[in-house]
Amino acid sequence: MKRRILLSVPHMSGHEQRYIREAFDSNWLSTVGPHIDAFEREFAARLGRPSVALSSGTAAIHLGLRLLGVGPGDEVFCPTLTFVATANPIRYLGAEPVFLDSERETWNLDPSLLEAALDDRARRNRLPKAVIVVHLYGQCADMAPILAVCARYGVPVLEDAAEALGATYRGQPAGALGALAAVSFNGNKIITTSGGGMLVTADAVLADKARYWATQARRPALAYEHSELGHNYRMSNVLAAIGRGQLHVLGERVAARRAIAARYREALADLDGICFMPQAPHGLHTNWLSCCLIEPERFGMSRDRLIEVLAEAGIESRPVWKPMHCQELFGHVECWGGPVAEDLFRRGICLPSSSSLTIEDQAAVIGVIRLAAGAPLKDLMEAACPRGN
Ligand SMILES: Cc1ncc(COP(=O)(O)O)c(C=O)c1O
Repeated sequence: MKRRILLSVPHMSGHEQRYIREAFDSNWLSTVGPHIDAFEREFAARLGRPSVALSSGTAAIHLGLRLLGVGPGDEVFCPTLTFVATANPIRYLGAEPVFLDSERETWNLDPSLLEAALDDRARRNRLPKAVIVVHLYGQCADMAPILAVCARYGVPVLEDAAEALGATYRGQPAGALGALAAVSFNGNKIITTSGGGMLVTADAVLADKARYWATQARRPALAYEHSELGHNYRMSNVLAAIGRGQLHVLGERVAARRAIAARYREALADLDGICFMPQAPHGLHTNWLSCCLIEPERFGMSRDRLIEVLAEAGIESRPVWKPMHCQELFGHVECWGGPVAEDLFRRGICLPSSSSLTIEDQAAVIGVIRLAAGAPLKDLMEAACPRGN
């Protein structure tokens, strides 16, 4: 079978096996064990905040919203341009999302639209219980104005940093900016535990509460005593072992993804009708996925046709997230704005971005895109590997 070049694949460091072996040798193979404690400690040291290892990023968002007191009848503000896992936990809790459009500068939540929506809700004495901010594709939202307006109205912010581990905003790490944050270790993320997540909070009491809920809210007693609803959301010791090995190389993985994005930009800079996701000056963009917009008339083909052409060459690419307000699931949900997210979805494409992507494979992707645009191939290796890289 012909080898395919995939969008974003796991990239082990070599440290993981040692930790996994330790887990097996000690028989700590369930959702308690020393690797879970160590992974939480090492992760917390990086972000400077207590962290709770969970079975997924979605579970982290769910527990985070629950910690913020979200319940039936509440509203939660949420960007419309995101993966569905940002919004689903709002509904798990019986609350309703209100979607907001993106700004062009970061593709993330538009701070001025957020202010208008909060002003409106304050006038009607119906403030949302929380605001979720997503750091899309490895780039932080413009947090300063977002946090300022949320603080003015006393509305807590939950960061969905699922895609942005390693990113920074004005020197602070993504995940340490809001009241709470969720990170994902899904197989396609910048580091992975195969599946898993982390809930991050400034408040150690909240972290303990999340751990308790994540273990079926079992009270510390001899018998199985329960007074609150719980979940089976804890990360296993084996997966925490993988996470520890991955955490060693987070910095290298960020550097590799940034280099890939820089090569795409350089090698495709002369093409008409293709422009890359902006890199806002406020922080470090990890370029978890390299994304760009296709202008069909100038590029020579539509975004969807380009995806097909890449697929025919054995290369996986994907459209930018389809906005939540365009999903059947959220058909009747209120949305503030929407045209920016719709435009980014209509024209946006995510290119292969694995940190293990070789120069040769990236050259192949670049070559197919150049051919699709009717541009000369030049020396592909030179195109994929500009001077200085
Ligand atoms: C923006 C965003 N939020 C949440 C999630 C959910 O994370 P998980 O797959 O670990 O549940 C993901 C990725 O999967 C994501 O991309």
